[in-house]
Amino acid sequence: MTQTLSALNEQFASQRPKDLLKYALEQHDAIGLSFSGAEDVVLIDMAVKLRPDVDVFTLDTGRLHAETYEFIEKVRQHYGIRIDIRTPDQTALQTFVNEKGLFSFYEDGHQECCGVRKIAPLRQKLSTLDAWITGQRRDQSPGTRSDVQLIEADTAFKGRNGELTKYNPLALWTSAQVWEYIKVFDVPYNSLHERGFVSIGCQPCTRPTLPNQHEREGRWWWEGAGHKECGLHAGNIIKKG
Ligand code: ADX
Ligand code: SF4
Repeated sequence: MTQTLSALNEQFASQRPKDLLKYALEQHDAIGLSFSGAEDVVLIDMAVKLRPDVDVFTLDTGRLHAETYEFIEKVRQHYGIRIDIRTPDQTALQTFVNEKGLFSFYEDGHQECCGVRKIAPLRQKLSTLDAWITGQRRDQSPGTRSDVQLIEADTAFKGRNGELTKYNPLALWTSAQVWEYIKVFDVPYNSLHERGFVSIGCQPCTRPTLPNQHEREGRWWWEGAGHKECGLHAGNIIKKG
């Protein structure tokens, strides 16, 4: 990257998410788009128009809602794309669930389960890449995401040559802008959104939010309101300290 990160962030702050996506896809061959099966589908809609064979990957924790699995398949067919579905390491998962059961996160927190089901598979995927793209937005979590930058050096993980760049093209968009895009471009969406779910993660750890509740309150609700991050975006916690 010839320009400094802060200059690039300044430059792209006045441009559209798809301009940053275009830049990111031009900069790197080994770049992956992480898709959670929620409203980050807008990034797929934008990316396939720029690079039809874009590397889209999703972390199948084994605990997603049936609706999310159906949605991932719908997106695969709708866009005619390959989705790299990453699953947890069989041995690690077996050891974990045999030792602690299927709901240990309600007892001692979500970090261990997220570690086996999401973080390890993500770490492995990222070790094949130079950069990744996420659907993180600042408005998703005042506690942890208010400083998310459009382009970041991801120091929480390592790319295939060590360094890893993280692009968050929707960082400055609001939820309203995402949903406007979905409406205008007739983008398919997860049917859970019609049932009060805003932020969508694993089934046992996600619930609909009430009016005036922040979307993040529907995630890991039995834990403190503070730093609700599973480790995918550990850099957010590192930044906040
Ligand atoms: S999480 O860290 O709390 O689970 P969140 O659901 O807000 O993340 O999603 C933010 C972004 O992280 C998504 O837009 C996506 O890029 C990435 N992400 C989250 N969950 C997954 C997943 N299961 N598979 C792939 N990417 C994911
Ligand atoms: Fe496990 Fe819940 Fe984390 Fe999913 S969100 S990996 S079920 S702790």
